[in-house]
Amino acid sequence: MAAGGVILEVEGVSKNFGALAALSRVGFGVSQGQVFSVIGPNGAGKSTLFNVVSGLYAPNAGRVVFRGQEITGLPPERINRLGIAKTFQITNVFPEISVGENVGVAAQSRSAESGRLASLWRVADIEARVTELLEAFGLVSRRDELAENLSHGEQRYLEICLALATEPTLLLLDEPTAGMTPGETKDATEMIRRLALARGLTVLLIEHDMSVVMGISGSGSVTVLRITDVHAGYGATPILFGVSLEVRPGEAVALLGRNGMGKTTLMKTAMGFLKPWRGTIEFDGHNLTRLTPHAIARLGIGLVPESRRIFPGLTVRENLELGLSAVADRSAALRRRRLDEVFHHFPPLRERLDQPGKTLSGGEQQMLAIARVVMAGARLILMDEPTQGLAPAFIRHIRDMVAELKRLGVTVLLVEQNARVALAVCDRGYIMEKGLIVFAASAKELRESPVTREKLGV
Ligand SMILES: Nc1ncnc2c1ncn2[C@@H]1O[C@H](COP(=O)(O)OP(=O)(O)O)[C@@H](O)[C@H]1O
Ligand SMILES: [Mg+2]
Repeated sequence: MAAGGVILEVEGVSKNFGALAALSRVGFGVSQGQVFSVIGPNGAGKSTLFNVVSGLYAPNAGRVVFRGQEITGLPPERINRLGIAKTFQITNVFPEISVGENVGVAAQSRSAESGRLASLWRVADIEARVTELLEAFGLVSRRDELAENLSHGEQRYLEICLALATEPTLLLLDEPTAGMTPGETKDATEMIRRLALARGLTVLLIEHDMSVVMGISGSGSVTVLRITDVHAGYGATPILFGVSLEVRPGEAVALLGRNGMGKTTLMKTAMGFLKPWRGTIEFDGHNLTRLTPHAIARLGIGLVPESRRIFPGLTVRENLELGLSAVADRSAALRRRRLDEVFHHFPPLRERLDQPGKTLSGGEQQMLAIARVVMAGARLILMDEPTQGLAPAFIRHIRDMVAELKRLGVTVLLVEQNARVALAVCDRGYIMEKGLIVFAASAKELRESPVTREKLGV
């Protein structure tokens, strides 16, 4: 909520790249002390907006006003000196110097820019500031560690430290929790909220995950998918008898059960191919119960169906591009960006780009089926028995792929009969029996519990 007057005004901002309109007439105001969220899927122009505010791009139209002063088109260093700092999607940490030195350099650059003479810097002041920041982010014990040795989550914290070391009034955070584990995401969102409060800092935050934002703004909703008391079946035959489960952002959740227990039926119902007779299915606060599969895909859910179903006669590239059919914006820029993302996370596909799908191995076909929903921008992927029919050597890859999806920030609901593989990569799991959830526990408990053995026969 607002703690003061409007500090940042964005008015009618448009930005084009050639024929592509990345932003068209964007406008909003941010109040002093507010954590203001900009939410949208990948490719929606969020980073472009940040680049306009921070001065990296001049907009084609519109103005940006910061504390009453127009800053449109000013160079980034000037805007930074006025008190706007930004973290980047791509990390700007120096990997080969220590954590403490990284923060020190950022703090010194601020002192230098404030016009003081280098000889007048008080090293002790800088050290104290560095310590304070590292303490706030739980990084004190890592002070002398090389930045490159930090975990992904710690590196993201370090980036925020670097931005804060320049003592901004307004902090721009570009997907600060991207690629973090659910635990780290929760901690990070808490920390950002506390920081803003403690320092009277204003934060403009980019997220593509709605629930992260809701966590930060304190509404407390942290469920991506919520299935409540779902009954469904085929014709007059009931198959699901009141299934309830939930999946939280960034989690990988296993849905286990023997053959014929209703797992696939539940996936089809979640995806809109079957209508529930009773109960509700919600995704990011949207009620899916009456939506078509296409509309559900557009909201950001992707299904990797049983038995893969790639198009065998089409090339890898063509298969991937079909993933975009659920996306409204199919611009060349978006296609390139998504393909880059897919290649980055699934490098074998790049090498096989012009090969027909049918010439791929079973494991590679599964990878292609998964990559296709990544192309569609899915934030929640429902995977139905991806290890089915794969040689043991490939089953390991499925596990790696789920782990990779988690790194991408994608939430996964993994349907498996192979409990060992699923529980090696998932955080939690449910066991389904005869159309009902009969057991829910952490992956560790499920691995150790006799119930798992009893229900699944493993
Ligand atoms: N298209 C269908 N029409 C009629 N019954 C079906 C259909 N698909 C599945 N079933 C039945 O629904 C039950 C649950 O099947 P399914 O959801 O595929 O289980 P699972 O995925 O757990 O193996 C089974 O008894 C199966 O025979
Ligand atoms: Mg099935």
